[in-house]
Amino acid sequence: MTTNKKLLQWVDEMAALCKPDKVYWCDGSQEEYDRIAAELVENGTFQRLNDELRPNSYICMSDPSDVARVEDRTFICSEKEEDAGPTNHWMAPAEMKKILTAEGTGLFDGCMKGRTMYVIPYSMGPLGSNIAHIGVELTDSGYVVCNMRIMTRMGQKVLDQLGDGDFVPCLHSVGKPLAPGEKDVPWPCNSTKYIVHFPEERSIMSYGSGYGGNALLGKKCFALRIASVMARDGGWLAEHMLIVGITNPKGEKKYIAAAFPSACGKTNLAMLTPSLPGWRVETVGDDIAWMKFGADGRLYAVNPEYGFFGVAPGTSMKTNENALLSARANSIFTNVALTPEGDVWWEGMTDEKPAHLTDWKNRPWTPDSPEPSSHPNSRFTAPAGQCPVIDPAWEDPKGVPISAILFGGRRAKEVPLVAQAFDWTHGTFLGSSVSSETTAAATGAVGQIRRDPFAMLPFCGYNMGDYFNHWIQTGKKADASKLPGIFYVNWFRKDENGKFIWPGYGDNIRVLEWIFNRLDGADNAVKTPKGYLPKPGAINTEGLDISPERMNSLFDLNKETGIAEMEDIRKYYDKFNGTVPKELYDMLDTIEEMYEKL
Ligand code: OXD
Ligand code: MN
Repeated sequence: MTTNKKLLQWVDEMAALCKPDKVYWCDGSQEEYDRIAAELVENGTFQRLNDELRPNSYICMSDPSDVARVEDRTFICSEKEEDAGPTNHWMAPAEMKKILTAEGTGLFDGCMKGRTMYVIPYSMGPLGSNIAHIGVELTDSGYVVCNMRIMTRMGQKVLDQLGDGDFVPCLHSVGKPLAPGEKDVPWPCNSTKYIVHFPEERSIMSYGSGYGGNALLGKKCFALRIASVMARDGGWLAEHMLIVGITNPKGEKKYIAAAFPSACGKTNLAMLTPSLPGWRVETVGDDIAWMKFGADGRLYAVNPEYGFFGVAPGTSMKTNENALLSARANSIFTNVALTPEGDVWWEGMTDEKPAHLTDWKNRPWTPDSPEPSSHPNSRFTAPAGQCPVIDPAWEDPKGVPISAILFGGRRAKEVPLVAQAFDWTHGTFLGSSVSSETTAAATGAVGQIRRDPFAMLPFCGYNMGDYFNHWIQTGKKADASKLPGIFYVNWFRKDENGKFIWPGYGDNIRVLEWIFNRLDGADNAVKTPKGYLPKPGAINTEGLDISPERMNSLFDLNKETGIAEMEDIRKYYDKFNGTVPKELYDMLDTIEEMYEKL
């Protein structure tokens, strides 16, 4: 239990508002997890999988209307609208509070009737780490409790760590109170949804959804949107980045962090199986990095999470065996298909499709069925500690020292396989211009370029222009010789026949090798308007069937298309109402001048 006055008072106030039947403080034990999971089985929310095939694991099928993050219902309620910026939805805090918490009419008033309000104290980051921060989520969803136990360090040990300290209050309800005697549905939710952040108060309120980032409030809501504000004010970085350790054949190790928009292979890079002999890649995190400066002036990162909430379809022993093996036991599968043997399956898991399944809508399925068996955003929730290549330092409270930061996107043309930034400001420029082509998987025209700066578009809790400035200022305050190198990668260049030029996957280690050597000062690059590009032959292609000409085509330099790209970025910057820092406009001018001289 706790004697933390702010916490006790807040729980009392929220219980008075939400009116649950009871309030339950989670201790985080296995016994508690098993008990709540058994209650979810009883309610029809969970089905236990075959323990011989998938020990201590559950499958869950959500309401078909509640399957993904709802960005159009996500709000940043800063006091001033300009502090939310043009990329976020905004409402004045007082107006939003009226909608959510007003007595009698507020959505949260009485929303937990007939249910239990669970109190989940959780730590984002290793307990006691000075990079970590504590949150407390109140929720009426047992599904959320079970997922939070995998995704965060949670329970009594967090209260012990918290003491009288501060925490981020996170209120969550599925928005489906139960009348006396009313039977619950397997997946309670509400068609009205609000995912709300109060950056000045540093608090979160989420209503109406039980799914993923809408409901597991430690992830996108706290670790990115609220933490980005805390990081701005505290001089650190909260980023949508994976973290990996890379060891070369000599046994030397460096850690890198990397930000990619969705569908660009982030989880694959986080758990890469290298194709080059003697290289090792180990996972610290697959989605979020919190980075603070150490006493030695270097940037140290922790993965604030404790598990993976990974997209299931397409994950196989061929594409990412380490992800699949992470979910071999003690995992929760949401919106995938169930096999007759009591295991899970999804599109792409095996070459051959099973003859019979129960699909994610609980219907019989065969390979002739018109719809896929699993929802495209179906997920596995798996303990990170079960990853076969988890890094030995992943729980180190000091964090791991970051030597390089990578940005990347999916671009068929123009953007090279790899480039190194001239310096931190140029690296910030590259991060601010992250762009990716829409794929056939998404609605809208294929191949359209969408800018997703720092892969933070839906996750930055304040004005994106101010966020760019925070990056610039972070660089200015630091000892430049100790800052990570910044690189931009693009695995997705295509030739004139529309074929990928670079093999990708495990062969991406060849690009990481160039980066690794570059960080050690190797003379293996030439300065161009795109940054430092590898000298011809500097990327190891031994054993690859790729000609020097084809390699060169990954690094083409063209004055017209290069300048057109800069103009596109300039137009993008102009949308931020004058908040994009001068340093980035100056960088555009500098690069344009470099192109002019080509
Ligand atoms: C995620 C996302 O689920 O970025 O991690 O959308
Ligand atoms: Mn993500």
